[in-house]
Amino acid sequence: MKNGSIEDKSPKGFGSVCVHGGHVPDPNYAHLTPIYASSTYVFDTAEQGMNRFSGKEKGYIYSRWGNPSFTEAGNKIAAMESFGLKDGNGRPLQVKAILHASGMAALTTLFLANLKGGDKIITHPSLYGGTDELLQKIFPSLGIEPVITDMHDLSRVEEIIQKDRSIRMMYLETPANPTLRCVDLASNLSIAHRYNLVTAVDNTFATPYLQQPFRYGADYVFHSTTKFLNGHGTAIGGVLVGKDIEKMDAAVTKVHNLLGGNSNPFDAYLLTMGMKTLEIRMDRHCNNALQIAQYLAKHPAISRVNYPGLESHPDYTIAQKQMKHPGAMMSFELKNGLEAGKKFIDKLCLCVRAVSLGTCDTLVSHPASMTHYGVPKEQREKAGITDGLIRMSVGIENVEDLLNDLEQALE
Ligand SMILES: Cc1ncc(COP(=O)(O)O)c(C=O)c1O
Repeated sequence: MKNGSIEDKSPKGFGSVCVHGGHVPDPNYAHLTPIYASSTYVFDTAEQGMNRFSGKEKGYIYSRWGNPSFTEAGNKIAAMESFGLKDGNGRPLQVKAILHASGMAALTTLFLANLKGGDKIITHPSLYGGTDELLQKIFPSLGIEPVITDMHDLSRVEEIIQKDRSIRMMYLETPANPTLRCVDLASNLSIAHRYNLVTAVDNTFATPYLQQPFRYGADYVFHSTTKFLNGHGTAIGGVLVGKDIEKMDAAVTKVHNLLGGNSNPFDAYLLTMGMKTLEIRMDRHCNNALQIAQYLAKHPAISRVNYPGLESHPDYTIAQKQMKHPGAMMSFELKNGLEAGKKFIDKLCLCVRAVSLGTCDTLVSHPASMTHYGVPKEQREKAGITDGLIRMSVGIENVEDLLNDLEQALE
């Protein structure tokens, strides 16, 4: 520390940001920010009310628009996503996060705050099933259409954008759910910016500990906070983080406030508590996952393991380039297809049969009949989501117990 300035006192390690980031000391000296279960906030005078509405005075008004429990969780995520990054002038990157009731609510804000009828979104196959359905079934009726292409073919991506000037946004999910395909953030985002597209990245599988899309020029980072950020499976939530602070404060806040997809104080509190341990949880999740992927890859009953930390994965190099570690999500295919998959899932004793991901417990699911049920079979198979594919979110149990459970279920 040089001169005791605020900047010098800010935490230097990511784990410290997880614990302390976003915290504002409580006026009543509570150690942890209490759960602000209050729908509205009091004005001392009519004039103060007017000043808060006009923005002359900062302060809470109504919990659909903001609440101290949301602010702490949002600011912690903003601190993690911008950790160690600089803006174009070499100053610490400033980003703003808006907490939502779910990942899908945050996505809706993202699209409606940035697109209008006639605009298109360029994206890739094998997105999370809900995102895919939103883009293919809900937004087209508002005149907003997806253009789906393989984003590994960079010259094709550029050609499509060049030819179709109604493409206004590039939307990426990497690693993607459930094939774990990764797309190169730096290359795709730089093409998008050459053509002035708005860019957004779903960072749910990676978390800001493993990957920071702002480092590669993304305008927005999106999370289903339901997953690794919460970490315990206690609350649904989503967050939209943006680096154009003026736009976040104006247009994006307006859409969020009016759509009503706000979080709630209890879920925000659970999220804040969960994120305090993000770094140590992720280290354990990731170590377990790598050992399990290596074990499954050698197992005679398994024909294919999708894990970006295995050299056999088609996007191994991309993951090595842009992720600190390939993460804790994987999927695999049993040689005897769907029937073998069902038998395997039913025999598991310690691993939990459930959708969702990112919890302390290891969760195992079957995408074709669960998360991707709404995606047409032909389209899902093209994206590698076959009938026999099993998805696994590796937890933080002792890895020996997980390996024993898998061994007995694969017999
Ligand atoms: C990668 C990804 N993005 C977005 C979502 C949607 O988030 P939520 O269920 O919190 O609305 C999910 C949910 O599984 C997901 O896995």
